Amino acid sequence: MISPASVSRIIDSARIEDVVGDFVRLRRRGANWLGLCPFHNEKTPSFSVNPARNIYKCFGCGKAGSSVNFIMEHERLSYPEALKWLAKKYNIEIEETFSEGDKEHEEQQKQKESLLLLHEFAQKYFSKMLSENEEGKSVAKTYFKERGFTQNVIEKFHLGYCPTLKSSFSEYALRQGYSEELLIASGLSVKDGEKLYDRFKGRLIFPIDNLSGRTIAFGARILRKDQHPAKYINSPETPIYQKSKVLYGISFARKAIADYDLCYLVEGYTDVISMHMAGVENVVASAGTSLTQEHVRIIGRFTKNITILYDGDPAGISASERGINLILEEGLNVKIVLLPAEHDPDSFAKSFSASEVKEYLEKNSQNFILFKTGLQSKAAGDDPVKKVALLHDIVETIARIPDPIMRGEYITRCSRIGNVSEHVLIGELNKELRKKYKRTGNDEQPFETKPEEAVLLQPVFEEDDADAQERDILRLLLNYHSHQISFPKNETVEAADGTTEWISVPVATYIIEDLERDEISFGNTLFSLMYSELKNRFSAGQNLSADYFLNHRDDDVRELATDLLSEPYELSDNWSRHGITVPTEENVLREAVEGSLYSLKIRKVMKMLRENRRQMDEQWKKGIDIIELMERQHRLETLKMKLSLALGIDVLK
Ligand code: UTP
Ligand code: MN
Repeated sequence: MISPASVSRIIDSARIEDVVGDFVRLRRRGANWLGLCPFHNEKTPSFSVNPARNIYKCFGCGKAGSSVNFIMEHERLSYPEALKWLAKKYNIEIEETFSEGDKEHEEQQKQKESLLLLHEFAQKYFSKMLSENEEGKSVAKTYFKERGFTQNVIEKFHLGYCPTLKSSFSEYALRQGYSEELLIASGLSVKDGEKLYDRFKGRLIFPIDNLSGRTIAFGARILRKDQHPAKYINSPETPIYQKSKVLYGISFARKAIADYDLCYLVEGYTDVISMHMAGVENVVASAGTSLTQEHVRIIGRFTKNITILYDGDPAGISASERGINLILEEGLNVKIVLLPAEHDPDSFAKSFSASEVKEYLEKNSQNFILFKTGLQSKAAGDDPVKKVALLHDIVETIARIPDPIMRGEYITRCSRIGNVSEHVLIGELNKELRKKYKRTGNDEQPFETKPEEAVLLQPVFEEDDADAQERDILRLLLNYHSHQISFPKNETVEAADGTTEWISVPVATYIIEDLERDEISFGNTLFSLMYSELKNRFSAGQNLSADYFLNHRDDDVRELATDLLSEPYELSDNWSRHGITVPTEENVLREAVEGSLYSLKIRKVMKMLRENRRQMDEQWKKGIDIIELMERQHRLETLKMKLSLALGIDVLK
């Protein structure tokens, strides 16, 4: 057990903004710091750090706590492990008393720590071999120098060399007291018969570090191609190294990625290093494996923008499309840069000056989706069959983007580039989305509305001004208050076997209850006056007849009622334009009522979200409990999502 004195020393030293700042890019916001929550996927920052109280809180997912909690959660450590982690960060010596704790767990942690120490030891050994060992100096160092790696960069990346002698490292490590068992577990040594051999013998060493810069694995390159079939070999997966979660170069790049709000993605070790030499530090590689969702999420904590560098031959792009799709699915933006012919990032960075490299990257970054559209559209030419294929491909990619507004924008721009009608693209997109939602299965459907039909949001609206929408609700109430509208009792039953049970409600009941449920109130003074009177009469069981309002004592109300009653519902232009046969008057009314409610509510909800967020900030600063506000925020976010999808239907039809 860590002594109480040590615990309080650690807690006193660990500044929350400092600890969190190691993992999250924070921006000052008043007395607090704000960033993207590392615990859930989000686009707008709701992760707040309060230095005065030394705590953090995420308004989005609700995670909150001290520095210790943060490290526990983020690094998946136990309480004592987190304390030790912090002690290490702040160079605090720990007094420890041992108890009969969770033995197995403790063992695992000990093993992890031993592995980390062994890797540190090995890294130093390999570095030493590179600069002091005869073979290291004559062969390996020369090789690096020939590749153009400077001494500086060799030291920065801790590059090394493992001598050709079969077991120089293993023997040295054993002599230094590292157990055979640990050496094998780390993958640094391989047992052959009775003896240990060095896995990386005769290879150049590229240490792979975790986010905080501790070495957790190695990549190792042969000196000459003919020596071995595999040019590079890597450490196997160990308790401290899961390759799907590690990006080469991330510990060096994280700050630059956050600063530039951009991450360059390259293929491997040498690319990362050469780019650094050219002064481009916001660069990582998914070495030893193709890009995974975890990789994307790690990058996503620091930036939402990824630019992938490709050899001059664009063939490589289709090979990496799986990775690109992953990036898009995580809601990040993907750009690509085609390097000049014959160049890979490594050779490119070395052949040009730092400023040329930077300028080239900036000038030649192109949005992936638009690039692909252009490429395929060119290839398709006037061939209608190819055009269909092109269309399908692009739409498939766009369908992966989680944000409906973004999807809408891409559809518009791609329709222009590819010279395809926007409606056709939207139709295709619908098909794709339908497939996608089917695949995820009903249980996982995040929305109650029929998501398969939801595509585009009305792209622009003034959230603050809902006058037109409020007025429209009043118009529907006055004109159609007692008309019945029907809804399938259970939409999923309808889909499954075709039989539907319907329930009918009067328009007034539907609207008033719906607005009540979502706590929507009117903003315009006159509209609000008429609405509350309508609502009161409705609750009191009085009729909502037009006559009452047409003879109202208030001039303004009377005038408004007259206007509203002379504007009965007209069929939206969209119906006929899309050749959809209008079913019955009642169906039209239902669509109208729902559409009108959605349009009003999305504006109100956006406003309520902002207001709620502001209140949270305020109370949070004062240290007042904000649980209820957070719950409300969550409810509103959910509602907002549903409405966005529902409005997609509205726009499309
Ligand atoms: P390269 O084949 O270009 O490696 O692969 P290199 O070391 O630069 O070799 P030469 O000098 O061009 O022939 C680029 C990156 O791909 C990864 C490495 O990270 C390398 O830096 N790679 C390549 C592997 O992981 N394994 C391999 O077998 C080959
Ligand atoms: Mn290369």
